[in-house]
Formats: sequence, structure tokens, C-alpha cells
Amino acid sequence: MRTLITAGPTREFIDDVRYISNASTGRMGCALARAAKEAGDHVTLVCGHLECEAPEGDTLIPVVSAKEMHDAVLHQAPKADVVIMAAAVADYRPAERPPGKRKKARRELVLPLPRTPDILAELGRQKGEQVLVGFALDVENRTEAAVSKLRSKNLDLVVANSPAAIGAQRATVELIFASGESETLENRPKSEIARRIIAAVRRMAADSAAENS
Ligand code: CTP
Repeated sequence: MRTLITAGPTREFIDDVRYISNASTGRMGCALARAAKEAGDHVTLVCGHLECEAPEGDTLIPVVSAKEMHDAVLHQAPKADVVIMAAAVADYRPAERPPGKRKKARRELVLPLPRTPDILAELGRQKGEQVLVGFALDVENRTEAAVSKLRSKNLDLVVANSPAAIGAQRATVELIFASGESETLENRPKSEIARRIIAAVRRMAADSAAENS
């Protein structure tokens, strides 16, 4: 099985030395890549800046910005049976990136921040038999928000988690399947959560292959 996984944050550069990003460390995506490799998958990992060691995989594609991640993922996705978007993709980017370093002025700096492409939504629009998994990080109404992302992005599985998961070794997550089933994993190591997700997607991919043969 060919599994494409994204991990870590993207960085959206304001000039050559400053960027907008988020607190993701990439641990969950790396745990997923490790679990998929252990299960025997051919793993392609597209990653932003990681604060953990990238696991030994088959293909490692480092990227910086949401646009670069978009281009790498869209290029790799047609070859994948499973795509898992665990990356914390920035939703906005500075409209301009002047070369060098912006000098500070007396007045406040106002930066226009256009939206970045929603990679997962794009994959959902073009999805065929592929198994597509997304993450949803929300503070309030977590289950409802995750179900809404599952539907709007045409996912097979959404992993709902909270800000407490960022940078942590353990997390509490709810796996919500398009079938309507769900499962809560309470305060578990990310390695265990990853193995559970990989087992579930492998089963879904096998079912989908059997249906289409
Ligand atoms: N994602 C993506 N491209 C983006 C933003 C997010 O592919 N530009 C993916 C993430 O990798 C994750 C999922 O979308 O799998 C959900 O991201 P999240 O930030 O929780 O939700 P959003 O859809 O961005 O909505 P909101 O920020 O309003 O909660």
C-alpha cells in the first residue's frame, strides 16, 4: 500500500528572515509515518519544519510553505492509496515577500494575509477510491466541528484533537469515520494513536480495493 503523510507546520515568510507559523512539532505525522512503515506500507512523508526526528521512510520531501506543501502533495497524491494530512498548514500567508529584511518604521505594520490553498479540501474534491484522512483542531464544539470538516472536505476519517495535543507526547483524540462510527482514544501515546489510525485506514483501503475489483 502506498501511503502519503504530511507532518509539521508550514512557514509563511514575511521577508527573508521572518515568518508566520504555528506551534506544531510534527510528532503526530512522524508517528503515523513510523506506524505505516511498520505495517509494511510504502511511505512518502511531506514535512514542514520538524522538531522531532523524521522516521526512516521510503521518500522524504521537505517543504517550507503551504504553497510548496500543496504542490508536493498534489504531485504525489495520484500515486497514493491513502493520504493522511497531519500537517498544520498555515491558513494565511503574507501577500508579499520582499527580498532581504524589512526595516522597522515608526508606524504599525499592517500586512495583508491572503488565504493559502486548502490542500485537504482540494484532495477531497478530486478523490476517487483513495482513503483520505484529515485532522481537526478545535477548541469548542470539537465533535461537531470535526464532523463538519469530514463532510465539507469529503474525508473518510477525521481525527479530532485539541490544542493540548500540540507538542505533547500523548493526546486525547476522537476518530470519526464517514460511516458514522467513532472512537475516543483517551490520553494515549501518539505512537499508539498512530498505529490505531493506520490499522483503520489499511482496513478501509482494503475494503475499497475489494469493492472495486
Ligand atoms: N489543511 C490543509 N490546507 C490548509 C489548511 C488545513 O490541507 N490550508 C488540513 C490540515 O492538514 C488538517 C485539516 O485541513 O488535516 C484541518 O485543518 P484545521 O486547521 O483544523 O481546519 P480548517 O479547515 O483550516 O478550519 P478552521 O481553521 O476554521 O478550524
